[in-house]
Amino acid sequence: MIGYHTYICSSPIRHLLLFLIALTALQAANGDVKKDFYIVFITDHSILDKEETAVQQTHVDLLASLKGSEADARESLVHSYTKSFNAFAAKLSEDEVGKLSSLDGVGSVIPNRYHKLHTTKSWEFIGLPPTAKRNLQVESNIIVGVLDTGITPQSQSFKDHGLGPPPAKWKGTCNHFANFSGCNNKLIGARYFKLDDFPDPDDILSPLDVDGHGTHTSSTLAGSLVPNANVYGLAKGTARGAVPSARVAMYKVCWASTGCSDMDILAAFDAAIADGVDIISISIGGLSGNYTTDSISMGSFYAMRKGILTVASAGNEGPNIGSVTNHAPWVFTVAASGIDRGFRSKIAIGNGQTVSGIGVNTFEPTQKSYPLTSGMDVAKDSKRRNLSSLCIEESMDPKKVKGKIVYCKLAVWGVDSVVKALGGIGTIVESDLFLDTAQIFMAPATMVNSSKGKSITAYIHSTRSPSAVIYRSQELKVQAPFAASFSSRGPNPGSQRLLKPDISAPGIDILASYTRLRSLTGLKGDTQYSDFTFMSGTSMSCPHVSGAAAYVKSFHPNWSPASIKSAIMTTATPMSSKTDRDTEFAHGAGQVNPVKALSPGLVYDMDDFSYIQFLCHEGYNDSSLANLAGQQQINCSKLLPATGEDAINYPTMQLRLKSNQEPTTGIFRRVVTNVGPSQSVYNATMKAPKGVVITVKPTSLSFSRASQKRSFKVVVKANPMSSKVLMVSGSLTWRSPGHTVRSPIVIFNPPLRH
Ligand SMILES: *[C@@H]1O[C@H](CO)[C@@H](O)[C@H](O)[C@H]1NC(C)=O
Ligand SMILES: *[C@@H]1O[C@H](CO)[C@@H](O)[C@H](O)[C@H]1NC(C)=O
Ligand SMILES: *[C@@H]1O[C@H](CO)[C@@H](O)[C@H](O)[C@H]1NC(C)=O
Ligand SMILES: *[C@@H]1O[C@H](CO)[C@@H](O)[C@H](O)[C@H]1NC(C)=O
Ligand SMILES: *[C@@H]1O[C@H](CO)[C@@H](O)[C@H](O)[C@H]1NC(C)=O
Ligand SMILES: *[C@@H]1O[C@H](CO)[C@@H](O)[C@H](O)[C@H]1NC(C)=O
Ligand SMILES: *[C@@H]1O[C@H](CO)[C@@H](O)[C@H](O)[C@H]1NC(C)=O
Repeated sequence: MIGYHTYICSSPIRHLLLFLIALTALQAANGDVKKDFYIVFITDHSILDKEETAVQQTHVDLLASLKGSEADARESLVHSYTKSFNAFAAKLSEDEVGKLSSLDGVGSVIPNRYHKLHTTKSWEFIGLPPTAKRNLQVESNIIVGVLDTGITPQSQSFKDHGLGPPPAKWKGTCNHFANFSGCNNKLIGARYFKLDDFPDPDDILSPLDVDGHGTHTSSTLAGSLVPNANVYGLAKGTARGAVPSARVAMYKVCWASTGCSDMDILAAFDAAIADGVDIISISIGGLSGNYTTDSISMGSFYAMRKGILTVASAGNEGPNIGSVTNHAPWVFTVAASGIDRGFRSKIAIGNGQTVSGIGVNTFEPTQKSYPLTSGMDVAKDSKRRNLSSLCIEESMDPKKVKGKIVYCKLAVWGVDSVVKALGGIGTIVESDLFLDTAQIFMAPATMVNSSKGKSITAYIHSTRSPSAVIYRSQELKVQAPFAASFSSRGPNPGSQRLLKPDISAPGIDILASYTRLRSLTGLKGDTQYSDFTFMSGTSMSCPHVSGAAAYVKSFHPNWSPASIKSAIMTTATPMSSKTDRDTEFAHGAGQVNPVKALSPGLVYDMDDFSYIQFLCHEGYNDSSLANLAGQQQINCSKLLPATGEDAINYPTMQLRLKSNQEPTTGIFRRVVTNVGPSQSVYNATMKAPKGVVITVKPTSLSFSRASQKRSFKVVVKANPMSSKVLMVSGSLTWRSPGHTVRSPIVIFNPPLRH
């Protein structure tokens, strides 16, 4: 999920490529007996107080009991996780995995899988102007941990002007690595994790970012002020992160060829938690799998237990419904929205018409017009017309492309590079998807929708010598916010009782720091290099919310992860509109508003026990829970009585309709904690959609002191809905003078099972 990268990286073709590369690497690494990497979770966490080497020895002993010798055990052991959870990674055969899994004290054994990666302007857009009040003293003690592709230490966003030495709680490291100039008082930590033994020819064993993604996300989160940031003159302004005084620690876990592996992600979580970070930001895709076996879900649980909130990207598989990832209840799941800035290129067509195209084209034409043709008409031979209409490599005749602008339908990104390599002048790409995002092009190019495309093709075929010219892009103001088309949608595939995503933040055409090691598009022939670039994706919206969380934490250092999350969710600006079909499934509680989140009035707080209770209610049983809880003694049947519809004190509510004949009733039990004025009264306002009745008891909550808790009950009664309706939503809002605590309530109509 990266710029050209961003969601483009998650295009099916790119996936396939990555998958094939990973597969080849895996196969190449196998000897006679097939051995793969696995992560083995040990349920006894009490041993974690002991020395690291002592814990590691228990792993060696366990493996030795299986393999017969300590030498073999040490050879197979890849990594010991010893700080916030007890586990190890090892190279094992299927047979050995079977034996290990049945041993007492072994929680579960999960295969190591590979995950993919999922400004200036955007901060003002969500209401965090440079003049916003800051708690600088505390802010400069906040450390944000970023799990990503590495970082560019020499970037201006990571200059340490005016910052003192790292806060005393910092225990992390930053050594000198290959091609890595080292840390300073802004970038205080940098490490890399690469536990598989596959060489990566396109990357470098160093926290250095050869991709640009990690530099971009880190600078969005906590970049220092950089005046006059721009991309070839576009979007000029001062770049800055949400918390420009906070410190950054980079944990590189994503590699150019293989992506981001479970073993590395867990090792980074283990390190970051022990290093003393305050917030973890992870713009990496989750994998399908349940809450007790996904590495991001597990790592973030261990972090939450130590008081660290993990903020993660919701995914770029939208607008498909049910595509949201990183959806565990303790993770803060971030969707992407658009800001009010767009990029347009004018296309002047030979017949005098002008058409407005979408995208970032930094090239000024040198001629008044160029010959124009269609990919379909320049095929190498008639058999390849279908491919050449998409301008796929090897399908077009270079003689017919040379010196021309070529019209292509979108199937894969990068056709601008293909056309240029054949001597073409530029490309007009037709698509009805992804038009809300400005693609960066490596040669003169722009995107149009199919109706404009039809008129261009008609023109091409109406004249003997069609011509056109594409002008350099200009900025313009567009309607916003809106849900990004690519942003992954609910319902949550992990639980029908939990609304995901949680929140939305800007994730389209975000300007932030980049690397000089990669061209703007990464495409063959691209000669554009810049210290800043635009990227789009939930990868970009995630650090906006990590930044907001760090900002809230700088005013409320003792708040729990759940309280910080609740404060940001209940003060978000609702985004539902008539044009937005998926409403809360696209943006959760709404658009983040960092300044409002400082003073939420009430919070929905939770601890790790509450989450375990939720998992019990979801049907997770004792043995799989032991992976998370680190003890065998959870008896779910003791935990469950009287917990209501969802058994969790979440700031949003989701009721799943149970049948299409009878009304469904759900009772939600909630507890709010007063973090506003000690003496205050809150009254409830409900908004219910048609066919739904929402009642709350009591309707008024009065507080006489700080931190006081009050419980209430929400009853949602919903009539059956047409099978065409996926969801409807209402809300519960607690109001006092000066505070508005809003929770969306979603009624979800699951598609009929066959
Ligand atoms: C790393 O440094 C070596 C030696 O200076 C150089 O050859 C190589 O290109 C550098 N790699 C990157 C990715 O900068
Ligand atoms: C080309 O596309 C057309 C229409 O999409 C299809 O009917 C035809 O079978 C395709 N031809 C080849 C050779 O794939
Ligand atoms: C293409 O864009 C134009 C205006 O920008 C709009 O009026 C038209 O409906 C769009 N067509 C499609 C198929 O989206
Ligand atoms: C989650 O995965 C674990 C390990 O595969 C399994 O034991 C457990 O039953 C699963 N739980 C649910 C609710 O699917
Ligand atoms: C827990 O779930 C797993 C997989 O669904 C099952 O094999 C095991 O028997 C269950 N254990 C209990 C105590 O229910
Ligand atoms: C769990 O609790 C229930 C109810 O209190 C009890 O009947 C059951 O024996 C307990 N199970 C275990 C394994 O302790
Ligand atoms: C809350 O409701 C009570 C009566 O139910 C009313 O007296 C009070 O003015 C209300 N407060 C606010 C802030 O609306």
